[in-house]
Amino acid sequence: AAPRFTTDTPGAPALAAFPRVRPRRGRVTPAVRRMMRETRIDPAQLTLPLFVREGIDEPVDIASLPGQQQHTIDSLRRIAVRAAEAGVGGINLFGIPAHLDAVGSQADAEDGIVQRALRALVPEVGDALVIQSDLCLDEFTDHGHCGVLDADGTVDNDATLERYGAMALAQARAGSRMLAPSGMMDGQIGYLRDVLDANGFQDVLLLAYSAKYASGFYGPFREAVDSQLRGDRRTYQQDPANGREGVREASLDVAEGADIVMVKPAASFLDVLYRVAQTSPVPVWAYQVSGEYAAIEAAAANGWLQRERVIDEAVTGIFRAGADGLLTYWAIELAERLRTGDFAA
Ligand code: PBG
Repeated sequence: AAPRFTTDTPGAPALAAFPRVRPRRGRVTPAVRRMMRETRIDPAQLTLPLFVREGIDEPVDIASLPGQQQHTIDSLRRIAVRAAEAGVGGINLFGIPAHLDAVGSQADAEDGIVQRALRALVPEVGDALVIQSDLCLDEFTDHGHCGVLDADGTVDNDATLERYGAMALAQARAGSRMLAPSGMMDGQIGYLRDVLDANGFQDVLLLAYSAKYASGFYGPFREAVDSQLRGDRRTYQQDPANGREGVREASLDVAEGADIVMVKPAASFLDVLYRVAQTSPVPVWAYQVSGEYAAIEAAAANGWLQRERVIDEAVTGIFRAGADGLLTYWAIELAERLRTGDFAA
């Protein structure tokens, strides 16, 4: 159609020319859009967090995380196989022990629930998936903190590191390929690297929770692990107001030998993720945490959001911000949608 001038609106400036630059050309058909897409996600970049609980005979639904369960070792093996079949890159294991105490002694016990689960998983899916294990004391302590407490009840950084070291060896011996220290103790990466290397575990990777913020979005996770926490984690997890500090924490972890640095939560810290991704010499991951999952599931269940569309948009935003990998409770269904071409972003 011939250009039509529409300068008859009173007071409108005359158009100097019709636009020569038309970004809409890149959106004109689905095939063009597919070709022009900047952000592409591979299922291998996804890690599924999984919960294994001691002393249950059947998996238990987690009410705050609809669709997720506390697993028995048997049901854990089944879901791990499903993840592998879907092409998910890894699983990240959280344990819920039957016995809690002040130092979290089940965390490094030879027959602790995480170690037993690892021994069951490695022969089954150890080649297909990167088997990762959470390395933190909060699921194992009766006070629910991520470390051991000193006389006045504060988390003792260096005494906690020694507990983490014992935990690292127990998990590595049980076959974990990647340890994920999530307790935000100072120096935890360097300390664990030294302990692992001194004991012949040079090939066990460290996934550093580098910029982990004290967040309300962990709420549903606390139910998932039957958390005993009273109070909060603000003396060790970061203040959500601080972006620069997240970049500093990540660069410290890189210097201490982290193989991967992570930002957590994802959605409310995309700027931190972006900044870390701009400068990090190692891969940068994000954790789309329990509250991010629960919020979308709840809104979708009410008919307020289109479920798959919003999940895929949220995940795309995290990768667009610079993530190389993502921990997400939606890993299996995302991997399946990515494979069938139904991923909606
Ligand atoms: C601590 C840990 C937490 C999460 C992962 N590791 C809880 C916390 O710091 O309070 C939260 C994960 C989520 O919310 O999905 N071991």
